[in-house]
Amino acid sequence: MALVKIVLVLTFVALARAEQNLVAHIEHRNSTNSSMRNDDYIDAQRRQHAFNIWYYDVQINFFKDSYLDRVNAMEYQKDSLLDKVKTANEQLYPLTLLSDFSKVCVKKYQAIMPSREWVKYQMDICISEASMEVDWLASYMASTNNTLQTYYRTTFEKEVTACQTKYNSSMSANQTLCLADVVSTTNTFTYNNQKTFSTQLEAAKNSADMDIKTLHECSFAIQNTTLSKIAEANTRIDRCIHGADDCPSCHGHFCNDVSYMSSSSIDTKNATMYNPFYGRQEIGDCLMLSIF
Ligand SMILES: *[C@@H]1O[C@H](CO)[C@@H](O)[C@H](O)[C@H]1NC(C)=O
Ligand SMILES: *[C@@H]1O[C@H](CO)[C@@H](O)[C@H](O)[C@H]1NC(C)=O
Ligand SMILES: *[C@@H]1O[C@H](CO)[C@@H](O)[C@H](O)[C@H]1NC(C)=O
Ligand SMILES: *[C@@H]1O[C@H](CO)[C@@H](O)[C@H](O)[C@H]1NC(C)=O
Ligand SMILES: *[C@@H]1O[C@H](CO)[C@@H](O)[C@H](O)[C@H]1NC(C)=O
Ligand SMILES: *[C@@H]1O[C@H](CO)[C@@H](O)[C@H](O)[C@H]1NC(C)=O
Ligand SMILES: *[C@@H]1O[C@H](CO)[C@@H](O)[C@H](O)[C@H]1NC(C)=O
Repeated sequence: MALVKIVLVLTFVALARAEQNLVAHIEHRNSTNSSMRNDDYIDAQRRQHAFNIWYYDVQINFFKDSYLDRVNAMEYQKDSLLDKVKTANEQLYPLTLLSDFSKVCVKKYQAIMPSREWVKYQMDICISEASMEVDWLASYMASTNNTLQTYYRTTFEKEVTACQTKYNSSMSANQTLCLADVVSTTNTFTYNNQKTFSTQLEAAKNSADMDIKTLHECSFAIQNTTLSKIAEANTRIDRCIHGADDCPSCHGHFCNDVSYMSSSSIDTKNATMYNPFYGRQEIGDCLMLSIF
């Protein structure tokens, strides 16, 4: 899309150049019908003015679109964070099936994990605060655009009419000179307005960078909180399942190494049973059997 816009802009710049050459030709004041040529001259100016306004519009819209693209890129981070919350909750599900005890542990600490709704709500606040800035960011440029348009529509047109009234077709050479002055003044006004616009565009880009930085900080805080809380919930659930929860009577009966065994696989009449050490590299110094 940006490429198409640039090509369009180049085409218009080329057209504008051709138009200025035409204006230069018209300025030779030896024609038989100067009044008509003066009209062509002013029409060419008007087309140049329309181009100037159009080009402002392109630049403002391109600036806004680029800014909003950067803001909307945050949607991917939001989705990825929502996925992490979903996965974290899904990973707890098997633990709720494992045993009533592990189910109690999950129920006890799962609430520490932020909900998908909370994460979405918080991330949406970050994103919408950033996107709301877009009109403010472009407001100085929009006002410069309006100033130029107003100048073209009122001051320029008034002065053109004044030249045409002051010097009628019998004095077309004087009219041409008068119009040339108006055009020259308008071009100076345009040039200064465009310089202002460029400065404002640069400033807007800097402000946009700051707003994007704020957005990233806002989003980072949510991501950090979410991931920290998920880790905390997992740690607490894990400790709970391993009997190391804040339970005084459990102290001294905790192994990091836990082997899970279903009660159905236990046959009290059988002298042999499944060997939890089978295939291990390390025997370790403690192994807990968790029967479910
Ligand atoms: C206008 O100028 C051209 C050359 O520049 C000349 O050939 C032509 O005769 C001039 N016409 C008038 C009406 O003076
Ligand atoms: C000049 O051109 C205008 C517009 O085409 C026409 O109405 C007018 O008669 C022309 N004047 C002369 C002197 O050729
Ligand atoms: C620039 O000004 C023109 C004319 O007033 C207007 O149509 C256009 O919407 C303006 N563009 C922006 C981005 O404000
Ligand atoms: C041009 O204006 C002068 C006086 O200002 C007048 O005498 C003349 O008739 C006018 N010519 C036309 C074609 O309007
Ligand atoms: C029109 O231009 C001629 C030559 O430049 C000048 O002598 C004359 O005074 C001008 N007429 C008016 C009304 O300005
Ligand atoms: C991330 O969040 C945790 C828990 O809320 C907090 O302790 C930590 O300071 C945060 N880190 C940063 C860099 O904000
Ligand atoms: C005892 O348990 C082992 C391992 O689970 C099994 O292979 C074996 O068949 C069982 N013996 C009897 C008599 O059920």
